[in-house]
Amino acid sequence: MSKKNIIMPIENGPLHITGTLELLNSESELLEKAEELYLCRCGQSNNKPYCDGQHKQTGFVEPGVFIKPPESEEEQNSEGLLSIKVQANGPLIFRGDACIQDTSGQQIFRKVGGLCRCEKSANRPFCDGTHAKTGFVAE
Ligand code: FES
Repeated sequence: MSKKNIIMPIENGPLHITGTLELLNSESELLEKAEELYLCRCGQSNNKPYCDGQHKQTGFVEPGVFIKPPESEEEQNSEGLLSIKVQANGPLIFRGDACIQDTSGQQIFRKVGGLCRCEKSANRPFCDGTHAKTGFVAE
C-alpha cells in the first residue's frame, strides 16, 4: 500500500520526509529508496544530504513555520513515488505528489519544489536562491 508523502521541517532540526521515496545525488544516481528520511537543512552536516545531528552543536534555530510558501496546488492524496534530488551547491528538488506541512500544521500540496539545505533562505523551508549569493558549497 502506498504511503502518503509528507515533507516536514522539524523545529531547529532537519527535514523529515516520509512516504514512498527515492533520494538521488547531484549526478542523478540513486542513493536509496526509503520510507523515511532526515535530510540536512542547517547546512552543517558532515554527511550531506543526510542530517548527522550537527544542528544541535551549531545552535541552528529555525521554527519550521512557513513564511511565504508557494501557492498550494489542488489537494491530492500525496501518494506515488516522491523523488528527491540533491542539487549541487543548492537545494533539494522534489518531484511527485507531496504534502508539505509546517510545525503549525499548515499544509500545502505541490508536485515540484525546492527545499533549502543551506540555512540561508529567507523563505525556509523553501529555497529562495540565496545559496547562489552566499557561495554554499555541497555535493
Ligand atoms: S538552498 Fe538555501 S536558499 Fe537555496
